[in-house]
Amino acid sequence: MEHPQQPEDSMSQDLSEAVKAASREVHSQAENSEFMKNFQKGQVTRDGFKLLMASLYHIYTALEAEIEDNKENPVYAPLYFPEELHRRAALEQDMAFWYGPRWQEAIPYTKATRRYVRRLQEVGRTEPELLVAHAYTRYLGDLSGGQVLKKIAQKALDLPSSGEGVAFFTFPHVVSATKFKQLYRSRMNSLEMTPEVRHRVIEEVKSSFLLNIQLFEELQELLTRDTKDQSPSKAPELRRRAGSRAQDPTPSETPGGKLPLSILSPVPLLRWVLTLSFLVATVAVGLYAM
Ligand code: HEM
Repeated sequence: MEHPQQPEDSMSQDLSEAVKAASREVHSQAENSEFMKNFQKGQVTRDGFKLLMASLYHIYTALEAEIEDNKENPVYAPLYFPEELHRRAALEQDMAFWYGPRWQEAIPYTKATRRYVRRLQEVGRTEPELLVAHAYTRYLGDLSGGQVLKKIAQKALDLPSSGEGVAFFTFPHVVSATKFKQLYRSRMNSLEMTPEVRHRVIEEVKSSFLLNIQLFEELQELLTRDTKDQSPSKAPELRRRAGSRAQDPTPSETPGGKLPLSILSPVPLLRWVLTLSFLVATVAVGLYAM
């Protein structure tokens, strides 16, 4: 997507315009990450979608806990829209749909997700004036590109049009996303902040995009590694679209619905030991032949 030149930040510019301009480049990076590019092409698998949704569950649980703790703090209060925006309850429904009734024990919690969660907690507890950056990046994104992703996922994963499995993307209390975004931007612009805080907010928006990009990169890596670990006969099965029963274990899951160790842990030690032994043996044979 082509964008006009990014203007320099100046205090005369509204905060909403400044963050949009400052994040143009990272937004484009996020859109163009392999995970998101595949998603936009309709190449989203059940495994990939489940991983993403579980990460979002952890992220929004953390974000919204920090928001609740700061709902009366003037650095955040004007942006407090729990009915319209908060996603935790919707994500709980999605978790039950994708992982079954015991989803709390079954959902993965990846490294990049933990990193994102840690930053949200740090911000909420020590720099609440930066919460606006995280709320902006996620909620305005969900009300924009998120709506396109919902339709793509429903089609690619053959989900019911009633919205099961994609509650996260559905905002029943937002009648017009465009109008709500306008209201949200005007509330952002009403926040009182010093130039120093404003600068940190803008930087935090970029960091927040980067946390999302790192998450997409990690999820893509986990999925690629998992597909490679499958035997050729099982690989197409892994890419299979979701059927009507979302919780049926796929070959990539353990019976309890957990993702296999292969996609959540580092390369097994055994593989390294075998590779090393092979190299030592090759060198020894070479020396012997000389
Ligand atoms: C497939 C990936 C994505 C697509 C197709 C997409 C698309 C869009 C579109 C069309 C807009 C509306 C732009 C406008 O109103 O001028 C938008 C806005 C936005 N997107 Fe994305 N997006 C994607 C990924 C993301 C991600 C990963 C994030 C962050 C986590 C994000 C955050 C935002 C934000 C914060 C806005 C609001 C910009 C503003 O008006 O200030 N987007 N996106």
